[in-house]
Amino acid sequence: MNEARTLPTIETFPDRQVLAEAAASVIGEALNRSLCEGAARASLVATGGSTPAAAYEALSAWPLDWSRVEVTLSDERWAAPSSPDSNERMVREHLLRGAAAAARFTPLWSDTPTPEDAARRAETAVRRLLPADVALLGMGEDGHIASLFPGNPVLAEGLKPDGERLCLGVPSGAPAPPQPRISLTLAALLQSRLVVVLTSGEPKRRAMESALAGAALPVRALLDQDRTPVRILWAA
Ligand code: 6PG
Repeated sequence: MNEARTLPTIETFPDRQVLAEAAASVIGEALNRSLCEGAARASLVATGGSTPAAAYEALSAWPLDWSRVEVTLSDERWAAPSSPDSNERMVREHLLRGAAAAARFTPLWSDTPTPEDAARRAETAVRRLLPADVALLGMGEDGHIASLFPGNPVLAEGLKPDGERLCLGVPSGAPAPPQPRISLTLAALLQSRLVVVLTSGEPKRRAMESALAGAALPVRALLDQDRTPVRILWAA
């Protein structure tokens, strides 16, 4: 890690509801700023997983011109939108509701033979949507971001900051993920004006602190760069 680089700090919130509201504010303000500055559209890369649901519900209530907002995913499980595993389903249920349902959603999953086929199909739509105003990411206790997992065969390609690909098919495997995935690459995620990592719980704080201290976890690639500002929001 370049010692001269100023690393982000972990911003600690008193509880998970305050954390969710803080994340919604950071995202809502960024999207609104872009729209008020005259951008035709503002865009959000939305993480999957369980942590962001409360933040999405708070964000969905923000008085934005949602018809000018674009939303896509940081990653997706190899699961149709009807599946309880689907990140698309989670985002539609918790964020794209009420006025926010007017936002334009770009899925990563499509009914193709393989995750890599779906990733290649999504690439064009994701390229059109970038640069995003905000990319919201979760993080696993293993330090994975999006679906870029330690030890996965596509990890090196996925963490290239200047890689060609924006979307990759991710094979399942040991230790993770249990099911195939589709993931945005670091090269795609860094094409955002701001990246927010939303985490909670002591194990993830320990993982983030070890990455900040130099441990070669996937999230470190996000920390060890000075192209895109990164904020880390955490509550116990
Ligand atoms: C997913 C996510 C993944 C997630 C982390 C944290 O598809 O699960 O995109 O990267 O952000 O695994 O997940 P939790 O929020 O469920 O702990």
